[in-house]
Amino acid sequence: MKLLNNKKILLGICGGIAAYKVLSLIRLLKKDGAEVRVIMTPSAVEFIGKLTAATLADSPVYSELADPDSGQWTNHVELGLWADLFLVAPATASTLSKMASGMSDNLLLTTYLSARCPVFVAPAMDLDMWAHPATQKNLQILRQQNVSVLEPNEGELASGLSGKGRMQEPEEIFSALSGFYSQKQILKGKNVLITLGPTQEALDPVRFISNHSTGKMGAEIARSFLEMGAGVTIVAGPVDKNLLPSEARILHVKSAIDMLDACELNFSQSDVIVLAAAVADYRPAQVSEQKIKKSGEHLSIELVKNPDIAATLGAKKRKDQFVLGFALETENELENAHAKRIRKNLDAIVLNSLNDSGAGFALDTNKITLISADGIAHPFETKSKKDVAHDITRFVVQQIQNL
Ligand code: C5P
Repeated sequence: MKLLNNKKILLGICGGIAAYKVLSLIRLLKKDGAEVRVIMTPSAVEFIGKLTAATLADSPVYSELADPDSGQWTNHVELGLWADLFLVAPATASTLSKMASGMSDNLLLTTYLSARCPVFVAPAMDLDMWAHPATQKNLQILRQQNVSVLEPNEGELASGLSGKGRMQEPEEIFSALSGFYSQKQILKGKNVLITLGPTQEALDPVRFISNHSTGKMGAEIARSFLEMGAGVTIVAGPVDKNLLPSEARILHVKSAIDMLDACELNFSQSDVIVLAAAVADYRPAQVSEQKIKKSGEHLSIELVKNPDIAATLGAKKRKDQFVLGFALETENELENAHAKRIRKNLDAIVLNSLNDSGAGFALDTNKITLISADGIAHPFETKSKKDVAHDITRFVVQQIQNL
């Protein structure tokens, strides 16, 4: 199957010795039916010139912000919007650093800042440059900006040294891009409903009870499901809106009761339901219409139990639906999470323990154990929330294939 057929691939070539290898990647992409446009940094032009790449791509090679003869401006915004996928290969330490800091002193970089599509980089450099903390920090920043890094291989390097820094072979890069598009098909036609963030339980017009949940974990899970081609509806408690993927349908709610209403409205058409919100267990029994006045030394507030969204949905789940919950535990973690899964009739539960460093609210990392309906616990290492999200969504895909 030609997974790249009709895909618009924008290839950014930097000035590294591996640039010559990218010419055979252009052939592979074209053979698979992709439309290819090429941007070169000024030093890439010195390495390999434009003619061969332009001939193989069957399209002019762009390298200048403006043509020095005609004065014509190259529209980097248009190039960035044209692309379905932007691949920078070879990506030099210099270009990675500029991408990470938002510098835009050549056409490749201005296009990167304008591109709205998925971005891949295939770094190539000497082993010490690769291992340098500055390069690793830049890569970390880029990963946080959702750039996929095709890690270099170990092997012989242009410097004569041997180690990690060799750009992936064209065939490997090609299969990574094909893999990206094949993954996009996995959940095509499936609907996923995700709750995330905290809830706010009003006391009066200006005060509420809430918690420190940021919604980061749920937002990464939503992104990962979108990458797999699913339609995603997010029911979000009050969180930073910039955190949420714009391709999802987003319903904003405040209280647990509003969150339950939004979930119930969307439940029957959902194939997968992920309950990642930190729902307040209790709410004030009375919401004062006016701001509560300061009076005596003590103030008691009566709280009443909120509905349990996970248990409510779990109770009416159909056989063809998959409901995944979360359990944040501080003691007897496995036992408690397992019991919670059964009590709420969930198909699986994600356990995070507050005893693990690197797990919890507001952090960029998490450490989880997935517990499936057969009672088996699958522990994972501490990872970025993005990588944890991929582990969770891959697990869900495996599980729903068995439904
Ligand atoms: O019982 P506990 O709050 O530990 O359960 C956590 C799981 O249940 C999470 O998946 C959370 O989103 C969900 N939950 C819910 N409604 C509540 C409380 C928790 O959906 N009222």
